[in-house]
This record gives sequence, structure tokens and C-alpha cells, in this order.
Amino acid sequence: TWTPDSFVETTVAELKDKIGKEKVILGLSGGVDSTVAAVLLHKAIGKNLHCIFVNNGLLRKNEFQAVLDQYQGMGLNVKGVDASARFLDNLEGESDPETKRKTIGRVFIEVFDDESHKVEDAKWLAQGTIYPDVIESVSATGGPSATIKSHHNVGGLPDYMKLKVVEPLRMLFKDEVRRVGASLGIDKELLGRHPFPGPGLAIRILGDITREKVAILQEVDAIFISGLKEWGLYDKVWQAGAILLPVNSVGVMGDERTYEKCVALRAVESTDGMTADWVNLPYEFLQKTSNDIINKVRGVNRVVYDISSKPPATIEWE
Ligand code: XMP
Repeated sequence: TWTPDSFVETTVAELKDKIGKEKVILGLSGGVDSTVAAVLLHKAIGKNLHCIFVNNGLLRKNEFQAVLDQYQGMGLNVKGVDASARFLDNLEGESDPETKRKTIGRVFIEVFDDESHKVEDAKWLAQGTIYPDVIESVSATGGPSATIKSHHNVGGLPDYMKLKVVEPLRMLFKDEVRRVGASLGIDKELLGRHPFPGPGLAIRILGDITREKVAILQEVDAIFISGLKEWGLYDKVWQAGAILLPVNSVGVMGDERTYEKCVALRAVESTDGMTADWVNLPYEFLQKTSNDIINKVRGVNRVVYDISSKPPATIEWE
């Protein structure tokens, strides 16, 4: 019978056998899959695992530093690369969702390729691919593999893609990955994190992306997510986030009329993201969150809650 402990034991032995003393590169995303893959590999090959964690400037507020600290605390050999400016400069003026995704995918590949060259004599590329990714590898949802595919049309493969690939989780479902993670002693909070899209806040800022809009959305999102945690709602929700709408609306402040931004909050229940229902969050929570956002985040004067289910309304607005 399959148990997380037996999986860890067998897989670590297999990885040792397969990789020996060779060097492995792995891209950490802050998500569950890449983290569990990294810890398994680290257990098998220690410092020969070289992790790279890229800040694309579109992560949640303080996420890059917090997650990097957490990885280092776990003993992982991880390099944090802050490429925010490179991503944001490349996205300037871009408002088409698919072009945003492609640009982010392309810049990620460039940054990752640069960094992987700094790991001398690496032989392997490790990935946190899980079973649903394997069976959906031709899907058009725009996950990391999809962005890599669209990049392939131009020129040859980046060097790191010529490495031998190792995917220790490719036979596991998400819940099994979480159980393996728990058996490896990974922090419960990290294992329970909501999914977060690779292109990050770029696809939650409708229209063009500016540094100012990213900063506003990070504040709004942080108030919403920390509120969900404080109210004990975070673990009841499959995914949640805020969307910055390309709409200004009128507000009053004293005798003045303002014309400021509107944000939408979205929280869904789901098992795999293919279908999703909006979550019936308590009115008291929504009321408090809305007040906090409007009082604390300059430039936002209106908050709406998305009560649409998928299908047809996708989880992300772009
Ligand atoms: P949708 O919006 O299609 O989202 O209902 C389903 C799930 O996929 C995530 N998502 C993405 N993840 N790159 C990703 O890595 C993307 O371009 C992307 N688009 C959507 C979304 O957050 C949800 O979990």
C-alpha cells in the first residue's frame, strides 16, 4: 500500500541512484509542488541541488522575501533573483492577456537560463510536475509548460532545456503531494497555500500594468488574504485574490468628489480549478474587508465581490 513515508523512502533512494554526484537545477515558485520536489531532492542529494527562485515583480506583497527566508530556513540551497524591473519593463504598455502571459514566459526563460549558466556543470533540470500536469500537458491554460512551448517557435532551445529532466512527483495527485510534503516535515501553512498563477498579478490587473497599479493591488490583496486567515476562512477557500478593474468611479470625500479605482474580490471553492463556485463569505467579513481596503489603500474607492461561478466565469478575469 502507498504511504507518504514509503514514497519518500523509495524516491530518495531512486534519486540518489539516478543522479549520483551530479548537479541539479530546480526553479522554485513558492507553490506546493516545486517546494515538495525540492525538499525530496535535497534529502537525496543535498547541496548538489541548486534552486532558483525568481521574483517577477508580480508576486503578492512581501512574498518574495518571506518565501525566500522560509526556503533558506529549510536548509535549501536557493538563490533568489529579483528580476522585477526586467519583467515590468518588458510588460510596459501591454494590455492583451495572452501577450502578457507570453512576455512573462519569455522573460522567465531568459532569466532562468542566465541563472542556470552560473551553476557550473549542471546535468539535470528538476521539475515539480504532478500527474494532472502530465495528462494535461497539451492544455492551453498557459501554465509553465505552455509558455515554454510557445517560446519554442523562435530560435533554438535555451540551454537549460537541454538538461536531463527529473520529475519525482509525476505520478502523484495534489493531495498526495501535500501528504508527502507533511511527511517531509514541510510547514503546514506552506502546504496549504492557495494556487497562484505563474503570471501572478499581471493577469489580475486588467489592462496595462504599471508599478503603481501593482503596488495598489498588492495592498488590496494583502488585506483580503490576511483577513481570510484572521477569520479562519482561508482553509475553507480553494483560491482567493483581488482584481484591479480598468474602471474609475465617483466617490465623495467630505465636500469633494473623487474619481478613483475599483477592485473586485474573488474567492472560489473547487477541487481542480476546472469548475468553481463562488464562496458565500460572511457579510460581516466582506463589510470589514471593504472598509479596510477603502480606508487604507489610496486610490481605491469601491470594492465589489464576484458572485460568478465557473463555467462560464473563469477564476481569473484575464
Ligand atoms: P481559470 O482562470 O482558467 O483558472 O479558471 C484556473 C486555474 O488556473 C490558474 N491560471 C493560471 N496558472 N498560468 C498559471 O500558472 C496562467 O496563465 C494561468 N491562468 C489561470 C488560475 O489561477 C486557477 O487556479
